[in-house]
Amino acid sequence: MERTLTNSSPSSPSETPSPAPVTIARGDGIGPEIMAATLQILDAAGARIAPEEIEIGEKVYLRGVPAGVEPSAWDSLRRTRVFLKAPITTPRGGGYKSLNVTTRTALGLFANVRPCVSYHPFVNSGHPGMNLVIVRENEEDVYTGIEHRQTDEVVQCLKLISRPACERIARYAFEHARRAGRTKVTCFTKDNIMKLTDGLFRRVFEETAKDYPDIETESLIVDIGAAFLADTPQRFQVLVMPNLYGDIMSDIAAQISGSVGLCGSANIGSQCAMFEAVHGSAPDIAGKDLANPSGLLQAAVMMLGHIGQPQTAQLVQNAWLRTIEDGIHTGDIFDPERSQSKVGTEAFALAVCARLGLEPRHLPPAHYHVAGSPPVHPHRLGTERRALVGVDVFLCWSAEPRDPNVLGRAVEAATGTTTLRLRAITNRGVKVFPGGLPETLCTDQWRCRFVRPEGGDVTHDDVLALLAALRHSGLDFVKTEQLYTFDGERGYASIPTE
Ligand code: NAI
Ligand code: MG
Repeated sequence: MERTLTNSSPSSPSETPSPAPVTIARGDGIGPEIMAATLQILDAAGARIAPEEIEIGEKVYLRGVPAGVEPSAWDSLRRTRVFLKAPITTPRGGGYKSLNVTTRTALGLFANVRPCVSYHPFVNSGHPGMNLVIVRENEEDVYTGIEHRQTDEVVQCLKLISRPACERIARYAFEHARRAGRTKVTCFTKDNIMKLTDGLFRRVFEETAKDYPDIETESLIVDIGAAFLADTPQRFQVLVMPNLYGDIMSDIAAQISGSVGLCGSANIGSQCAMFEAVHGSAPDIAGKDLANPSGLLQAAVMMLGHIGQPQTAQLVQNAWLRTIEDGIHTGDIFDPERSQSKVGTEAFALAVCARLGLEPRHLPPAHYHVAGSPPVHPHRLGTERRALVGVDVFLCWSAEPRDPNVLGRAVEAATGTTTLRLRAITNRGVKVFPGGLPETLCTDQWRCRFVRPEGGDVTHDDVLALLAALRHSGLDFVKTEQLYTFDGERGYASIPTE
């Protein structure tokens, strides 16, 4: 199997002669050293890039820019559309926004791509043969930051999953697999529990798979998937998953590959892309010529593929593999049993430069030949008929003793003259009225489900009248959620026994 390379720019099916503008940031801590080493290797390999430098990180934060990046830097990023980023130090204390989150959302970087490869026996790993790529959805799920405290006792975080984002990430994973010569794509979700959100992600994955009959597909529940990943990562090639699982799985995968310090990652959007090492700014070894530049170099190799220079990417990657194989190791991966010589950042870079043109003798050499980005397909427009059939009203109610029957009767009395009827009350998803169990622990947040007694459509006026009736009786609603059907199919989770 070929080692994986992130896909390439839309416009360049073959190597382009003119240098590609690339925004670079040297970052903090070891950032400047590993960036210098990386640029030196790219230069020696003949990479046709024209770096434009921007300042990011600690100095910018401490200057009072909460995002850690000057507004003017966006001009460069929007012009070059390619960002090679060294790690930064996030100052301690509150008020500083994550530069990664800002960049990702501002530039629409929807896919986080992280290859996790074992270089056993040259770098120790419990999983020889591990060679996988995690494609993580990067913009949605529980990372949208939509959180609320609704009552004294209950807070919530909204998990958002959209069909266009699912389509984009699923297609990206398949295209990535095809371009990298991979033959299998696995999807992790928890759709047995989150039937609507994770269910959509999985359904779109399986729909998309039909366009790639040459690729084997697999859908796993994330918990058993995680267990397989930790135990036998060799069984996976490309994994695609929603944001939260991807965040966790990609750190596990990097760690068990034995080479977290050698991992690069790409954040890909339809317009822009950002490439960086997985590790941080390592302030403990900064300025000492001790840092391993391999993580950033791996990111740069992905970048070369992305900008349509796969042959240069291959040249660099093979020289790097040969250096690792030759046992020329920085302190972080040095092992007297496996390594030949312990070198600093600069000597490591020189060793890679000296091997340009060579291939590894034992590890599989890289062969990158495909350029061109996966196309971003326009998403299907919704044509289903959406009908309002009810409403969930969340109440804050903390009268003691917390007897759901008391609340249930109060709600029924309050809303008896409205067009909607109370169907059930749940507390943290458990049905407590009618017919709950006294053992169920009840918080102060109650979900009351209302529908039309005779079925059929509900209007917004029905909902407003219901809320007015609740308010009139002194019941405190903290949130409402409309219940819709789409072409007659429920767009909401049913209450067990409903
Ligand atoms: P870290 O990854 O910087 O360091 C963890 C350990 O690994 C340290 O002992 C360090 O010396 C070592 N290490 C890391 N990279 C190395 C390399 N290339 N060569 C040799 N040894 C290396 O993580 P830590 O200490 O938790 O964070 C330090 C700073 O980095 C923090 O300010 C953190 O916020 C930031 N950070 C930035 C990231 C980014 O810019 N993408 C990602 C992760 C952390
Ligand atoms: Mg993470």
